[in-house]
Amino acid sequence: MKRYLMLVAILLLSGVAAATELPTTPNGISLIKGYGSWKIISPSHRPDKDQLRVILGNDLAMAAMAGGIRPFPDGTVMAKVAWTTRKHPNFPAAMEPDRFVQVEFMIKDAKKYGATGGWGFARFVGPELKPYGKEPGFVQECFGCHTPVKENDYVFTHRPAFPQ
Ligand code: HEC
Repeated sequence: MKRYLMLVAILLLSGVAAATELPTTPNGISLIKGYGSWKIISPSHRPDKDQLRVILGNDLAMAAMAGGIRPFPDGTVMAKVAWTTRKHPNFPAAMEPDRFVQVEFMIKDAKKYGATGGWGFARFVGPELKPYGKEPGFVQECFGCHTPVKENDYVFTHRPAFPQ
């Protein structure tokens, strides 16, 4: 029995250790694993940066996008993933993602992140997912650039047509 309890304790502790190992930004936001299987809101293209991006959303984000609900409800999360581009090796006229650049998140919690429009901002850079920012104030950079779209609850991306 004692041994069994010991084993349970070890398993629990290693679970906690694994959770705390997630990369975390200076404002306390950890990488959200599994973002790669969220739904697509829209792609975007930055020729000046040689980047293809995809903006993804959790279920709350998708519902708010579909229903035109603003402000987005608490619990909404969006991710923006960026890659450099390359010509498709078998069809050079087509551009496709090449190297992973970064993933960014916006997490809605109107109270917790009230100072930045209700959004918690986080960025993880490079394949090693290095947390961006030296101190929590880095979010002013994100928030500042998202302010021109305040009327859309600080969100740039629109859902394009998906006729069906
Ligand atoms: C210089 C301006 C600028 C800065 C700084 C900026 N963003 Fe954005 N962000 C944009 C634009 C423009 C888009 C629209 C999509 C695109 O450009 O690919 C966007 C889109 C996003 C999206 C998808 C939701 C949306 O609004 O469309 C997330 C998530 C995001 N940014 C997170 C961040 C985070 C986190 C930071 C800070 C670490 C940040 N952004 C800093 C301009 C900026």
